[in-house]
Amino acid sequence: MTTISKTITKDDIIVSGARSTGVIHIGNYFGAIRNFAKMIDDFENPSFFFIADWHALTTHQDAALLKDSVRKTLATYLGCGLDPNKSTIYLQSDVPAISELYLYLNMFAHLGELERTATFKEKIAANPNNINAGLLTYPVLMAADVLIHKGTKVPVGKDQAQHIEMIRTFSNRLNRVYKKEIFKEALAYSYSDDFVTVPSLNGSGKMSKSDDPNSAILLLDSDKDIEKKIKRAKTDTGPTEKNSPLTQEVKNLFDLMALFSNEEQITYFKNSYLDCSIRYGDLKNQLALDAIQFIRPLREQIEEYINKPNLLVEIAKSGAEKANNSANNTIEELRDTLGLTRKFLNKISN
Ligand code: TRP
Repeated sequence: MTTISKTITKDDIIVSGARSTGVIHIGNYFGAIRNFAKMIDDFENPSFFFIADWHALTTHQDAALLKDSVRKTLATYLGCGLDPNKSTIYLQSDVPAISELYLYLNMFAHLGELERTATFKEKIAANPNNINAGLLTYPVLMAADVLIHKGTKVPVGKDQAQHIEMIRTFSNRLNRVYKKEIFKEALAYSYSDDFVTVPSLNGSGKMSKSDDPNSAILLLDSDKDIEKKIKRAKTDTGPTEKNSPLTQEVKNLFDLMALFSNEEQITYFKNSYLDCSIRYGDLKNQLALDAIQFIRPLREQIEEYINKPNLLVEIAKSGAEKANNSANNTIEELRDTLGLTRKFLNKISN
């Protein structure tokens, strides 16, 4: 069972990130980024939100593309309202201590548990020709991301909950071996009872960037693109009997409506499904209208940041400085605990 916390107390340290992939879709928005912004606004706690560009390397092996993705992801964070004055926003690769912690944590991660990780199994099935050790130790690097700031609450989507559980496994093991509570337990955090899962437009599964591009609505999609994609979304041939249960494809459309449309619209279309008068074209028109209304201002704000590269650099720099301060404190303490120290003479003299 995955443990999900719904509370933040005064000692909590909030840490989360997203892989930079360049194509940020509404699944990423509702599953992660929106919550990041909300947490910064709702809580006074220290918070760290980063762009996982090292994690991106496991599958994203083109330098120019990665740079572009990182820039767009940072612009997306800012455009979606993550406030760099109230939080620490940075690139993972700007904080070298994370890679050092990753090395240490690898000693506390067991091969068997890494091989059993659901996302690892999915990735090797999708990519049988590149089963690299970076994929295997992906959860260890995530643990380093969180533990480097002694994070205790990690807002993530459902697909990441197993990884957060693994962070606890690694940190508890390290604490136990060194008989010291260096790290507290990190818990996945969610605002509501259920993690939001945004469905794919192709009728099954969750929205994903790796599937066919028409199955995901991107935050940078134009109004026209959004409309086109929604109109192409899979449906069925329509209910033939009154009060039929929703098919998966149609349930997906209602799930999307729940994100963008108002209660009245949703009830209207639900009722018209139940009495078999529904016209999917009308539903899609309404959904497209509401989705565009919602996404357009986000897109415009993101584009504004994309067009200000100097500002992006400045924000990344000041975020890195704050993140390195916090990270270096943890790594110094840990080196000492592990019996490592940069003070060579001290080491051999006692
Ligand atoms: N794996 C996460 C994702 O794909 C991104 C991530 C990297 C992350 N490191 C993290 C999330 C640490 C939370 C905490 O979305």
